[in-house]
Order: sequence, then C-alpha cells, then structure tokens
Amino acid sequence: MISQDLINQIIDTARIEEVIGEFVNLRRRGSNLIGLCPFHDEKTPSFTVSPVKGFYKCFGCGAGGNVVKFLMEHEHYSFVEAIKYLARKYNIEVVEKELTTEEQEAAAEKESLYDVTSMAADFFMYQLWETEEGRNIGLSYFEERGITHNMIRRFQLGYSPLQRDALVSYALAKGYKPELLEKAGLILKYGNSYIDRFRERVIFPIHNLSGRVIAFAGRILSNDKTLAKYINSPETDIYHKSNVLYGLSMARKAIAGADNCYLVEGYTDVISLHISGIENVVASSGTSLTTEQIRLIRRYTPNITILYDGDPAGIKASFRGIDMILKEGMNVRIVLFPEGEDPDSFARKHRSQEVADFIQNNAQHFIGFKTSLLLSEVKDDPIKKTSLIKDILSSIALVSDTIQRSEYIRYCARLLDTSEQVLYYELNKILRQIHSTTSHVESQTSEEEYIAPRQEEAPERNIYHQETNIIRLLLLYGKENFIFPIQLENGEQKEIEVNIQQFLITELLESEYEFQHPLYKKIFEEYCEAFHNNIIIEDQYFINHPDEAISDLAIKLITSPYSISPNWVVKAGISTRTERDLLKELSIQALLNLRIRNLELAIEQKQRELASANPDDALIILDQIKTLSQMKTEMALDLGRIILR
Ligand code: CTP
Ligand code: MN
Repeated sequence: MISQDLINQIIDTARIEEVIGEFVNLRRRGSNLIGLCPFHDEKTPSFTVSPVKGFYKCFGCGAGGNVVKFLMEHEHYSFVEAIKYLARKYNIEVVEKELTTEEQEAAAEKESLYDVTSMAADFFMYQLWETEEGRNIGLSYFEERGITHNMIRRFQLGYSPLQRDALVSYALAKGYKPELLEKAGLILKYGNSYIDRFRERVIFPIHNLSGRVIAFAGRILSNDKTLAKYINSPETDIYHKSNVLYGLSMARKAIAGADNCYLVEGYTDVISLHISGIENVVASSGTSLTTEQIRLIRRYTPNITILYDGDPAGIKASFRGIDMILKEGMNVRIVLFPEGEDPDSFARKHRSQEVADFIQNNAQHFIGFKTSLLLSEVKDDPIKKTSLIKDILSSIALVSDTIQRSEYIRYCARLLDTSEQVLYYELNKILRQIHSTTSHVESQTSEEEYIAPRQEEAPERNIYHQETNIIRLLLLYGKENFIFPIQLENGEQKEIEVNIQQFLITELLESEYEFQHPLYKKIFEEYCEAFHNNIIIEDQYFINHPDEAISDLAIKLITSPYSISPNWVVKAGISTRTERDLLKELSIQALLNLRIRNLELAIEQKQRELASANPDDALIILDQIKTLSQMKTEMALDLGRIILR
C-alpha cells in the first residue's frame, strides 16, 4: 500500500507534458501542447495537454484526464502501477509493504505472465554474463559481431544454455508453475516432462512500449542453413506480434525528437545503428508492417524512412506494404544500402558520422524511388510505360496531402517525360474510383444534388449567387491575409494580420449561417472542421477533392472570370487594382451581401405568410417584417460605408 500523502506528492511532482511527451509527439501551442491523439485514429492534431492545468484532453474523441489517468489508459497500467511508474521517473522512493502469497496468487494472469517473462529475461542475462558457457559462447558471439557490452546491457541480451531443461529446472525450483511457463511460451511439453524452447542460442528480448519484456527471439550460433536462424516466442496474452515493433521502447523519445523513424528488418540492424549513435530506429522483425505497427510509429512522427539492403527483388515485393504506409497518411522515404550490405554490416564498417551522412544523403522519397526503379526496367516500351504510370499514380493517389501530391506529380512528370495535365487527368480518374468504392452512396447523392446555380430558376428565391461569392473567396484567397486596424483598450491603434479563411469562417459560424447550396454546404463543413483544428486549408485541396462534384465546382469557381464591380472602381477612382489588393473589402462586402440577401429571403417568406394569415397573426408578422427590414437597412448602410483605401 502506498500512502495517500505520497500519492499526492508523486502527482504534484510529475510534469504532465514530460510524461505524455514520452508517448506522444507534442508541439507547443501557446501555453498548451498539441499532438496526434493516441486514443483514436487522426491525422490532424486535436490532442491537447495543459501543463498549467495538469490535464490532457482530446477534442476529437473526448479522452481526457490527469497524468495518472493517461498512464492507466495509454499503458493499461493499474492505478498503483501508474503511481509507481511516476515515482521511478521522478526518483521518488516508494515504501510499501510486501505482497502476501494470497495477493500474489490473486494477481491478474497477465501480471504473472509479465512476471515469468521478466524472470526468464534475468535468467538469460545471468547465463550470458555469469556462466562460463554463456561467456564463452554467447558473449564472445556478441563481441565478435562488434556489439559493445553497453549495448548488450541496454538491449538486455542474453544466452540460453545447451542443457535442454536449464530454464525449466531453474524456474520450477523457484516455485513457478510449469503451466505458466508454458503459457508464456518459454517451455514445451515433451512426453511427461518439459524442455526449454530456447536452447544454445543468443537471446534478444522483445519489449513492449513501456519497456517490459514480453517475448524473446533466439538466434542460433552456427551458420547451419538447415536450422531456423531465429526461434521466436509464440503469441501469448501479453505478446501480439502484429502490434509490436522491436526497439520501439528504446527509440520512441529519439523518434519524437528527430521527427522521423528509421525502419529496418532485423534485431541486429537496430542494435548496430544504436552503436553508431542512431537511436530513432525500430525493426519490423523480417515481416511486412501491419497497420497497427504503422499507427504505433505515427504516434510519434508522420515520417518514416525505410532502410533497405540492396536487393531489388525484395524491394519490389515490399511496394504494396509501403502503399499501406502512405494510406495511413505518413511520408515514406527510402534509403538503399550498397549491394550486399544491410544497415548492420554497413554500420559496422563505417564510422558513426559516415553512417549518418550516408542515410541523410541517400534518403529519397518513396514515389521518386519507385518511379526511378520501375523506369529503369521499362526502357522505351510504351505499353510497359503506361502501366508503370498507372502503378505510380495509384501510389500518389494514397497521399492525402494535396500539396505533396502535386509536388509528386510535378516530379514524376519530369522523370517520366509526360505532361502534368495528363498525370492529373489519370490521377483524378483513380481518385474518383477510390472515392466511389469507399463511399458509393455519398458520391451518388452529391452528383444528383449538384445542380449548378441556375439563375433563370426563380432567382428571387435563392441565395446561391451570394454564397458563390463567399466560397469563391475562400477557394481563391483562403490562405492570404489582410491587414485590419483595431483599437486597443488604451485607445492605441494597432494593425493585425487576419487570415481570410479564418475571418470568413469565424463570421459565418458566429452568425450561424447555413449554406443552402448542398455542395457549398459540404465545402463549408470541411472549412469548419479545419478551423476547429486550427488548420488552414491549402489552395489546391478542393481542386483535388475526391468527390468529383466538389472538385469540378472548385475548378469552375476558381477559373471563372470575375471582375470587380464597376461601382467600386469608380468610387475609389482606381482601375489597375486587382482583387488581391481589395481582399479585406471584398470579404466584408461578400459577408454583408450574404446577410442582406438572407434577410431579403426571410422578408419574402414572411410576406407570403402574411397573405394567408389570420388578422391576429398578421399583426405579429408585420412586426417581424419591420424588424427584418430595419436590420436590412442597417446592413445596407454598413455596406455603403466600406471605403476603398
Ligand atoms: N527472422 C525471424 N526468423 C527467421 C529469420 C528472420 O524472425 N528464421 C526475422 C528476425 O526478426 C530478423 C529479421 O527477420 O532480425 C531479419 O532477418 P535476417 O536479416 O536474416 O536476420 P538478422 O537479424 O539480420 O541476423 P544476422 O545479421 O545475424 O544474419
Ligand atoms: Mn543481418
């Protein structure tokens, strides 16, 4: 038991941003920090940590609480475990009474699995360092491979002896039940007795995110090709291969710090890179990445760099897996090591700085890498080239960032000697296909709904024209700022920069305006979502929108000829100014026009009601019409007051 006083002291000492910062890549924003929420799947950060108030809150999924709650939810710790974790982190000594045997028996099964696994890890380490066999065979093997003692300790490497029941007899003597050892995958039933799973191998423990040992891999010491090079723990209640990455607990801080994660194949690659001073590295353990593993990495960074040994066949086989990484919204770079070298062998042959430089200088974006590699095989065969272009565009289509997408198009157009337009045309076809298969219903309705604002159709009844102006400004100038003079409390004049997108969206949200045109409504909703996440939508976002109706509309609005009303030009005595010079005035004008039109429509509606109202209601309606008209007049005056400077 830990006393309440001590618990309070521990919570007070813990700094929430430090604790959460170990698991989530946080960036400062004002007095808070933000990052990608670890509790739900998101691509734009809505997870906020307030150091001052001592809590975290996700505005996407609603998760929230204090530092202890975070550890309980994220690491699946019990309350006591979370407190102990914090105490360790902040060097606070926890005095508590020993657990009784009953309590030990009552401990959750998972806990006992962790416990027996940790016991085995200690056993293997002891064998490596403290026995003659271990030192002669295991330790000298690691030494020969250039793995320093330091690293052997950091990765808790060990040795499993030749004796077939070394671990069994040790553990049974310590009172561990054979069933539990079997459940943890450490021993195997052999007739009436048990034998060790790992024998005469060097041991690589596999850790979970919080650094506890959950499984083992054992490598043979000989070069006997008839034997499996590695034996691995089976799946257990605490080890699920598909959501574990080797080395992540050691790497996560470095990954968040470098804002990049190196991905290698093998255990030894991870360790050798650590020796070279590169710590932001994890291994997929020889299999292709799973979605869970990709999301684990994405908690810390959106950037992943895959380090390959130079084997083209193997690389091509991995392209599908990489598409999956792109789909998760990550940026993928590739480093190809020289023929016959893997990160491990390369790192051992070069000085640390050379390794770092090599990776730095050879990292190439996946799309470019794939294009050049495939292109080198195609030569001048036009049919092959066509299918290559489709192949590459299908990867580009997975990139969610539209700016990036257009950069790749530009890059590939050059490399493939094709025009950007052609690539865009093909890309849009693919995007539409993806869109129609993923949200078939949605895209159908939007196409049906999409009727271009037709002026001849009862123009007095709609507000499409005014809505068009707003959406057009957003699409064309959303990323630009204008200067807005404000008066401070002390009377001082100050100029602030206002972003068009944020200005228009704030105003529309405040007046609770609802778009009538179904497509404008959709576009507006996307702007609002971005606004709430404090993101400015990029210029080309809607042009490349997967909903064909929206992208068509965006293109139409952006390219439509538009001229400033002659009135404005005359009033201001200008003729050479462009829209860009008048962004503030145009924005305010568009908003006022929208509101005025909205009032007009409301008035018209009331007038229709009036025609069929009984005398009592008629008085009320007349009153409403009067109020609306007054509002309209005031706004029209405001509109007239906008002076072009
Ligand atoms: N692997 C495995 N089982 C095998 C072979 C490989 O689990 N029988 C996994 C291991 O995670 C290994 C990775 O695939 O680390 C890469 O395989 P490989 O390059 O053959 O092994 P290395 O760890 O690089 O070993 P070494 O450098 O000692 O050959
Ligand atoms: Mn290797």
